[in-house]
Amino acid sequence: MPAPHWFDDGADLRPGLPTRFRLGMQGKMKISALAIRPPVRARHVKRTYVSSLDDRPGAPTRELVLLALEAARRALDVDLTPISTRIPMGPRWPDLWPGEHYRLLAALVDLLQPGTVVEVGTFTGLSALALKQHLPAEGRVVTFDLIAWDRIPETVLRAEDFRDGRLVQVLGNLAEPAFFNQQAALLEAATLLFLDGPKDGRFEPELYRRLVELPRRSPAWVVWDDILDLHMLQFWRDIPLPKLDLTSFGHWTGTGLMLWPAKP
Ligand SMILES: C[S@@+](CC[C@H](N)C(=O)[O-])C[C@H]1O[C@@H](n2cnc3c(N)ncnc32)[C@H](O)[C@@H]1O
Repeated sequence: MPAPHWFDDGADLRPGLPTRFRLGMQGKMKISALAIRPPVRARHVKRTYVSSLDDRPGAPTRELVLLALEAARRALDVDLTPISTRIPMGPRWPDLWPGEHYRLLAALVDLLQPGTVVEVGTFTGLSALALKQHLPAEGRVVTFDLIAWDRIPETVLRAEDFRDGRLVQVLGNLAEPAFFNQQAALLEAATLLFLDGPKDGRFEPELYRRLVELPRRSPAWVVWDDILDLHMLQFWRDIPLPKLDLTSFGHWTGTGLMLWPAKP
């Protein structure tokens, strides 16, 4: 096992950037990260808790378990090398499966053939491209962020990715009521959502609260990233809708699949 390891307490180390980039920046670790010695050594360690399932709300339905099984099976054969080879150096994250979630996302799109996919958190564009790979011809991925993709040094996105109109980036904060209302029709149309925003303990509960108030003609599937993050634990546990922890077939920091049912 490698000698140096990172100990990461969650999203408040440096909001707005994903852990592996935040941790690369010196002096951003929380005091608790220095005071608590993790009982496991690895390249990157995150603190989390496990909690009982018999008393949690939102037990998964049979339909949800079947989709999860089928998606995991399909992820086994998904090839994301057209995306991972865009990473100029370092680990090719999309090929790391299980461990990273990119192949699971592509598999879900392959299975569900959604007309509209919504993503929160464009950042490098890796997940946006994974979501686009098996999109039907008439489908689109709309990815939200606060920062334009071409201002992100680590981006793997290229201008031509947006040219066919099947990948669109929208800048704005869906936790803000006016912006959320502006985007309501799009959110109602989405049948797959991948939510990989700030995980700051505020954004995700606020977005969830607003989403479930929207009317829906058909059910949608929502993938929540980083559900094992300390800021996400209670939020994820308390969701009363059918849900399943798919971490072993997704992202090691926690991948949750939730059913957002139709609502007349
Ligand atoms: C973990 S990264 C997303 C990683 C991305 N899915 C990828 O594959 O590279 C989180 C992203 O969420 C963005 N973000 C933070 N707060 C946000 C908000 N309120 N609305 C939309 N995006 C937000 C950050 O700017 C950052 O780019």
